[in-house]
Amino acid sequence: MKTKQAIVLGIESSCDDTSAAVLCGNKLLANIVASQDVHILYGGVVPELASRSHQENIVPVVLAALKKSKIDVSSIDAIAITQGPGLMGSLVVGVSFAKALALALDIPLIPVHHMKAHILAHFIEDEQNSSPSFPFLCLTVSGGHTQIVQVNSASEMTILGKTIDDAAGEAFDKAAKMLGLPYPGGPLIDQHAKNGNNLAHTFSKPKIAGLDFSFSGLKTSILYYLRDQKIKEPDFIEKNLADLCASIQYTIVSILISKLKQASKETGIKQIAIAGGVSANSELRQTLLTWAEKDAVKVYIPKFEYCTDNAAMIAITGKFLFEEGKSLKGSTNISADPRLAWK
Ligand code: KG4
Ligand code: ZN
Repeated sequence: MKTKQAIVLGIESSCDDTSAAVLCGNKLLANIVASQDVHILYGGVVPELASRSHQENIVPVVLAALKKSKIDVSSIDAIAITQGPGLMGSLVVGVSFAKALALALDIPLIPVHHMKAHILAHFIEDEQNSSPSFPFLCLTVSGGHTQIVQVNSASEMTILGKTIDDAAGEAFDKAAKMLGLPYPGGPLIDQHAKNGNNLAHTFSKPKIAGLDFSFSGLKTSILYYLRDQKIKEPDFIEKNLADLCASIQYTIVSILISKLKQASKETGIKQIAIAGGVSANSELRQTLLTWAEKDAVKVYIPKFEYCTDNAAMIAITGKFLFEEGKSLKGSTNISADPRLAWK
């Protein structure tokens, strides 16, 4: 007899994207994301504006996800919600909404860790997404985090290394700002780099022991290099934008890949996945594919829409926890936690 697949509504509001997704088993039925362009004006996410936009977007986004999935609200078995980490004001909007809906429908509310969800996005079922088997290594690279995680199961994940200062996405965004590019600069560096030479300019790489990362030295090295070159040639950046983007991107990706290779060597794990916003980067994707061809590792690269923040990844994580039956709490005693611990 075929057992009924759980229908999970996922909601994400940790930063500047309001998103809702509906999942039936591992199959994605809808994933709606409302991005907030308002922050471009300020060169970074303004927390107060982000929470206001979430307030405006959350109801229409959830309704749009339900409509697209053709699922009636009464058929939802559980709601998965990003509990943290993230911006307090943003998280509170999603958590309060999810709590109220779970209470009204009398169904479980499942709190989800945003970074773990980025990793489990690999298990969203659609034609182009292939899933790793356990154990695998995952490089999670976003605007706020940079980690190498050993993933033994959907609920057992160990951080092997992490950044001691800036995150990789932050390094992209800060470098882009120095080049006069608008926020978020990561995708723009990627775009300009396509016409540039990776080796045109050289920036310092950190020497950090073990599997930890550091990007603050690179930031300083770019700052001083641009300052010195602009003294000699005021329009240095404009004239060399593509080469600068390519060289900065190459340096960040080299730092990431060298630690990932070290982690694979130390653990003997040859299934490698990437996750988080920076995993959309084309140089990172290409370098991984080249490594896979050369060294017989298998790499898992998520579809673009599952790299940046989305609720499909929250729903799939909720589904795993729902099936395990262990992370369910009464819907009234969950609160947003901007610094949610990795347990
Ligand atoms: O995971 P994410 O969407 O949000 C956070 O949880 O932080 O990651 C956002 C980060 C930003 O720093 C953005 O610049 C970076 O991901 N990013 C990229 C690319 N697309 C997004 N960085 C480099 N190349 C890209 N193509
Ligand atoms: Zn994220």
